[in-house]
Amino acid sequence: MKNMKIKIAPSILSADFSCLAAELKKVQRAGAELIHIDVMDGHFVPNITIGPVVVKYIRRSTSLPLDVHLMIENPAKYIGAFVNAGSDMITVHIETVTLKELAAIARGLKKSRVKLGVSLNPATPLNRIKKALPLVDFVLVMSVNPGFGGQAFIPQALKKIKQLRAIFKKDIAVDGGINNINAKLARNAGANVLAAGSYIFGAKNTKQAIDSLR
Ligand code: DX5
Ligand code: ZN
Repeated sequence: MKNMKIKIAPSILSADFSCLAAELKKVQRAGAELIHIDVMDGHFVPNITIGPVVVKYIRRSTSLPLDVHLMIENPAKYIGAFVNAGSDMITVHIETVTLKELAAIARGLKKSRVKLGVSLNPATPLNRIKKALPLVDFVLVMSVNPGFGGQAFIPQALKKIKQLRAIFKKDIAVDGGINNINAKLARNAGANVLAAGSYIFGAKNTKQAIDSLR
């Protein structure tokens, strides 16, 4: 998207968790704008990752905004804990909430000055989030089926981004399988926030990898 600042959000799912603080410093030094944190509950997605306690320690290890991607059932139950842990942005999946629940989440996060995003799975049509758009600060378009890092980018996401950009002027993030090649396609389609895990943390030169996504 022209005239919109591109923000790179390394997904720590692909980081070395035995030295997370060093990994966070590495991507911050390399110019990342956000830290993307993938929270999975083993219900909404077939994998389990981290909870608020880890977010609390991540908060102490970086000054970058924390972009917390909740891939969990019943997100409203846990959002308070993630806010208290120091989240700056929280994304919930449209598949996990009613519009009414999302509106309540939006009101709560506004008070806490935490930004709200809504995400949709590759199989979920854009129509499903249309009524949610006035409630959110950004949209996170999934370009893989959530659950694991290192999967291949699903090109149908590009069409969704393009259609969304025509009706949504705020930040559009894309998440899953992002590399230097499809990053360009996603940017051209209208995405301005790129979440990338394995491409960034798997790179020999972190700064070069991040720069190549812009
Ligand atoms: C997928 C996660 C993504 C993922 C990105 O469930 O939401 O954030 O970790 O990792 P890569 O870039 O390796 O697909
Ligand atoms: Zn994610």
